[in-house]
Amino acid sequence: MSDTVGKTITCKAAIAWAPNEPLSIEDVQVLPPRAHEVRIKVLHTGVCHTDQYTLSGKDPEGAFPSILGHEGAGIVESIGDGVTSVKPGDYVIALYTAECKECKFCRSGKTNLCGKVRETQGKGVMPDGTSRFRARGKDILHFMGTSTFSQYTVLADVSCVAVTDRIGTDKSCLLGCGITTGYGAAVVSAKVEEGSTIAVFGAGCVGLSIIMGAKKNKAGRIIAVDLNDNKEGWARKFGATDFVNPLKIPRNVLLQEYLVNMTDGGCDYTFDCTGNVSVMRAALEACHKGWGESIVIGVAAAGQEITTRPFQLVTGRVWRGCAFGGVKGRTQLPGLVDDYLRGELKVDEFITHRVSMDRLNEAFDVMKQGDCIRCVVDMS
Ligand SMILES: NC(=O)c1ccc[n+]([C@@H]2O[C@H](COP(=O)([O-])OP(=O)(O)OC[C@H]3O[C@@H](n4cnc5c(N)ncnc54)[C@H](O)[C@@H]3O)[C@@H](O)[C@H]2O)c1
Ligand SMILES: [Zn+2]
Ligand SMILES: [Zn+2]
Repeated sequence: MSDTVGKTITCKAAIAWAPNEPLSIEDVQVLPPRAHEVRIKVLHTGVCHTDQYTLSGKDPEGAFPSILGHEGAGIVESIGDGVTSVKPGDYVIALYTAECKECKFCRSGKTNLCGKVRETQGKGVMPDGTSRFRARGKDILHFMGTSTFSQYTVLADVSCVAVTDRIGTDKSCLLGCGITTGYGAAVVSAKVEEGSTIAVFGAGCVGLSIIMGAKKNKAGRIIAVDLNDNKEGWARKFGATDFVNPLKIPRNVLLQEYLVNMTDGGCDYTFDCTGNVSVMRAALEACHKGWGESIVIGVAAAGQEITTRPFQLVTGRVWRGCAFGGVKGRTQLPGLVDDYLRGELKVDEFITHRVSMDRLNEAFDVMKQGDCIRCVVDMS
């Protein structure tokens, strides 16, 4: 048993004291886990656009000071009373989409959303309404129930899943958001069928993961749509058969018309991974009449709304969305890890940048450059 059990741990964390300021890497006190909580030593974390969005101050639910980060993996240091699903020494992935297996949502069999810790998670506190982080004598808020930009963090037991240690945490962390979100959107949410035609708008980490999932399900045609020509090579590497740069199609043709013409009537499935509401419209209208489904994944800026003519839906197109790809974290992530270990799921290929914890702010800088798919932060 480690000698930190039951004690407050002082370690480094990247604290977001205020919106739009660089994160401050400084000492934080991490309190011991209470009942149904788990304290983990974070070994690696990815940096995702949602962290950037909240840090920018544009997220109406963003609260400060807080510790961001939601794409992390590490090792269990200690557990609180009543925790049975993980034990000290287990390798775990943090889950911003909890899975309690008991609530109305979990039992519905229709969704991966879970209601158990939703309300307190949104307020930046643990399920008992308090925080486990202190710095400069103040309480620091949690973020997305994960706060992986700290060397130690405390999670609800329903917000983490143990996985084999045969996958390095520098890879498993990416299953905590981007890769699972895209792969799950194709395989779990849309259930892309063999031979189908799909279009993916935005070939970042999420879009490339959709392409990977669609290829696994043997889609016939996979069209990647991106404003950045450099993404063509990336998209083809993951299985895209076609690439369209919307800036390079004839000026008098709408993107959706172009895609409908290109696909003999439209796509069976389209996915928005840009967060741009006019792209979402194009994605819906690029669907095949009668059955095409468009799945919204991108997170739009606060206050944005989507529009289309209702006739698009009357004539059989379906507009929906999913979070975390529709994947149930505790039930399904170990299977994704197995797929990785069998060589059926790419993960390493997404890592374009690596930084150490003291340079965490640089991960935000590289994310804004077009050539970054994922930057992994070494938290040790
Ligand atoms: N729903 C969820 O659970 C979930 C989870 C993770 C991320 N997201 C969201 O998914 C989106 C994609 O995330 P990512 O990490 O892949 O981002 P990314 O920035 O790596 O990729 C976005 C891609 O979209 C392209 N793009 C931007 N505007 C475009 C446009 N108008 N037309 C065509 N291409 C365009 C960019 O060139 C880039 O290649 C973000 O909005 C993110 O917030 C949602
Ligand atoms: Zn994310
Ligand atoms: Zn639940």
